[in-house]
Amino acid sequence: MAKFSPPPGTADIFPEETPRWRYLENAARQIFTLYGYGELRTPIFEYTEVFQRGIGTETEVVRKEMYTFEDRGGRSLTLRPEGTAGVMRALLNTDVMNGNEKRVFYIGPMFRGERPAAGRRRQFHQIGVENVGRTAPGLDVENIVMQMHFLEELGISGTKLLINTRGLISDRAPAEAVLREYFGRYVEDMCDDCRQRLEANIWRILDCKNAACREIILNAPDYSKAFSRESLTYFDEVRTLLGQCNIDFQVDKQLVRGLDYYVHTVWEVIHPGLGAQNSLAGGGRYELYLPETGKPVNGVGFAVGMERLLLAQEALQISTLMPAVAPVYLISLGDKARGFNLQLACRLRRAGIATLVEVENKSVKAQMRAANRAEAEFSVICGDAEMEQGIVVCKCMATGNQLELSADELPDYLIQKKSQVRTTNGD
Ligand code: HAM
Repeated sequence: MAKFSPPPGTADIFPEETPRWRYLENAARQIFTLYGYGELRTPIFEYTEVFQRGIGTETEVVRKEMYTFEDRGGRSLTLRPEGTAGVMRALLNTDVMNGNEKRVFYIGPMFRGERPAAGRRRQFHQIGVENVGRTAPGLDVENIVMQMHFLEELGISGTKLLINTRGLISDRAPAEAVLREYFGRYVEDMCDDCRQRLEANIWRILDCKNAACREIILNAPDYSKAFSRESLTYFDEVRTLLGQCNIDFQVDKQLVRGLDYYVHTVWEVIHPGLGAQNSLAGGGRYELYLPETGKPVNGVGFAVGMERLLLAQEALQISTLMPAVAPVYLISLGDKARGFNLQLACRLRRAGIATLVEVENKSVKAQMRAANRAEAEFSVICGDAEMEQGIVVCKCMATGNQLELSADELPDYLIQKKSQVRTTNGD
C-alpha cells in the first residue's frame, strides 16, 4: 500500500476530475426536473434495521457487505449501502402512505464492503430516482424512459436494457416451488453458496456467477408460469408501453436483482465498456417494509453508478471537460503595488474574472514564470511608477502585445478580450 493511499475500495477525487462528476450531477438535475422530480438529501447513515427490513436480511448486501457500528447510545447504525431504504424512511414523514405520489432523486456516496475491482468500490456514488406512493405500469415505463433519456444526454450509446418481472409477493411461493423442484435435482453439482441459497433464498441462485451453476441455471424452467394473471398482465402492459415509447429491451428471466424488495418490473442497463462489472444502472418496482410500519411503501425507481458512468464515457471516448479557464495573473513590483494588486484581484474576481496574484515579495521573473505555469491568458503588471500614474500594463501572454490602461478600465477591457471569464468547467 502506498503511504498516502485511502482505504481499499475508496478514492480521492482531485480538482482535475471533479468537473466530470459535476457534469453528471448537473445533467441528472436538469433531466429529472423535466419529469417533475426534486432532490432529496438523506443522512449517509441510518438505523441498521432500516436496511435490514428494507433490503431483506437474506440479501448479500445485508448479510455480508454493510458497514455497521454502534453509536454512543449503543444503537446500531449502518452506512447506507443504497439509497432506496433511507429515502423511503424519510418519505414516511410525508403523506406518501395516503396514496399521494412523491417524485424524488438523490446523488451521493453509498458503502458496500465488496471486494474492490475495476468498477467496484467500497465507497461508490449513485444517482438515484424514486417514484413513491402509486402503482401503475406507466410509472415503471416513465422511469425507464427517464433513465434512458439521462444516459442519452451523457452520450452513452451501446447500452442494453434487460427487463424481467418478479411478480407479486403472493406469487413467490408457487414460483419458488417450481425452482426448488428443479434445482433440488442438482444439489450435488452446485456451489456451496447455491446449496445454502436453495434453503435460504432460492432466487439468488439465478444470479450466481459460478460456471457449473450457470449451466444448470440456463436450463431452469420458466417460473413465471406460476405467477398470477395480475402479475403477467402488468408485465405485458410494461412491455407494450416500452414498445410505444420506442425503448429497445430484452426480457431476461434470470434477472432477479440482488435486493429483496422488488415486485413486478425489474431492470438493469448493461454496457460493454464496463468489463466484468457491466451493470451501469439497475432498478425496479418495490414493496418496502420499514420498522414500525404495518404496511409496505410502494414505489419504482433506479440508481446509476457514477464511477461506472465515467468508465462508460471513457470507453466511448466522450470528453465532457470544458477547456480550463485561463486566469489573469497580477504581477507586482514592490510592496505598495502588491497591496494594490490584492485589492485589484478582489475587484476582478467580483467581475467574474479568474485572477491569480502573488502575495509574497517575489522577483518579476519568478512572477512571470508563475503566470506561465498557470497558463494565464493575460498578465497585468503594476509597479510604483504605474501606481503614481494610476495605470497598469496589461500584456497578452500569447502575442506579447502590451497596453497601458487605468485600473478602472481593466475589468471591462478583460471581459471584452478574454475568451472565457467565468468558470464553466463541468457546469
Ligand atoms: P443496485 O443494482 O444495487 O441497485 O445499484 C445500482 C447501481 O449502482 C449499479 O448498477 C452500479 O452501477 C452501482 N453500484 C452498485 N454497487 C457498486 C459498487 N460496489 N461499486 C461501484 N458501483 C456500484 C440499487 O442500489 C437500488 N437501490 C436501485 C433502485 C432504486 N431500485 C429501486 N430504486
